[in-house]
Amino acid sequence: MAIQADRLALYSRNALKLGLFGANCSSGRAVTTVAERWSGSWPDCLRLARLADELGFEFMLPVGRWKGYGGDTDYQGETLETVTWAAGLLAATQRMTVFGTVHAPLIHPVIAAKQFVTADHIGAGRFGLNVVCGWNEDEFEMFGATMRAHQARYEYAREWLNAVKLCWSSREEFDFPGEYVTLRQVRAKPKPFGGGRPVVMNAGASPAGQAFAIRNCDALFSMTPKGKLEEFAAHVQGVKAQARAVGRELDVYTVAVVTCRKSGREAEEYYRHCVIDNADWAAVDRIMAMRGVTRERFPDDFDERRMHQANGMGGVPVVGDPDHVAAELAAIARAGARGIALSFVNYLQEVPFFAQEVLGRLAGMGLRAAG
Ligand SMILES: Cc1cc2nc3c(=O)[nH]c(=O)nc-3n(C[C@H](O)[C@H](O)[C@H](O)COP(=O)(O)O)c2cc1C
Repeated sequence: MAIQADRLALYSRNALKLGLFGANCSSGRAVTTVAERWSGSWPDCLRLARLADELGFEFMLPVGRWKGYGGDTDYQGETLETVTWAAGLLAATQRMTVFGTVHAPLIHPVIAAKQFVTADHIGAGRFGLNVVCGWNEDEFEMFGATMRAHQARYEYAREWLNAVKLCWSSREEFDFPGEYVTLRQVRAKPKPFGGGRPVVMNAGASPAGQAFAIRNCDALFSMTPKGKLEEFAAHVQGVKAQARAVGRELDVYTVAVVTCRKSGREAEEYYRHCVIDNADWAAVDRIMAMRGVTRERFPDDFDERRMHQANGMGGVPVVGDPDHVAAELAAIARAGARGIALSFVNYLQEVPFFAQEVLGRLAGMGLRAAG
């Protein structure tokens, strides 16, 4: 039986959950031209998932992206659709939770709910849902859809998610007379595996996005600002308190981009090689423009932001030898993160060394069981 508390713990007792982020996309999260950049191909994803499952990683989180960012590599130009990707990986793994990252406005909630249930049955209760509202106008245009005003995006998502949850839970036929979503005489069977429901997360950063997560989701994914862990700790405490005030529990997860090598110098050199000397700057500049990050708006730290973007689309860079990497991840955990979604330039090449050297150190710090 998939008990809800076990689902929320991602079926692991480790205090710090670790996952892999962005492996369903070409180049993953590193905006780089280096030859060994991640392929995002199915065989590589499958090998990675089996390896991660064996090593005790708790989750894999894909990026929901429909259109490449261009540049020299067409950054994230090839992406595997996330729910079908999750279904395939769930069939091939035993322990870890695999998320689908789903644009609520682009898929009908009744279809979505049944897809999630199907993946959840394939994984015997290990499917998770990352609901996103979208932030790229060009992706929506591709669907002939219009992106709603920011606040309305999250109002829509609330209705959409309520409809999905009703499909998961209602034993009766139901109507759903929403403002955005109208459903009639819905029958949705089977229910999610084992009586629970998939873990739901969201990565809203704005007040509206965070309020949506606080009121409707199990977990909020928030970026850790580089070098500002106290700020992150205050954020975690704040959103958790807001959730408790409405009778809910909320976990906060974050994102880190890891370059771990035998020595700090080796790690620094590789980091520089990938995301400075060989960054796909044309793609970086397109992403910056799409996000409205211009030198005029951010005169003081535009160059730093540009660099940060090349490195893992903005996740906090963790660069160093195993002692340093373990210490940084532990500090993020101590600041309140329940879990960290990691990315690497080439996941398959780098995860074995990371696992061998860093997981044991984290176990020594009491954050994970010894492997
Ligand atoms: C960890 C993380 C994962 C995200 N994954 C996606 C994604 O796969 N697809 C997407 O369109 N947006 C994704 N986003 C963007 C968020 O859903 C959200 O739109 C963004 O953080 C802006 O927040 P806001 O909508 O509250 O303004 C992600 C953000 C974070 C921090």
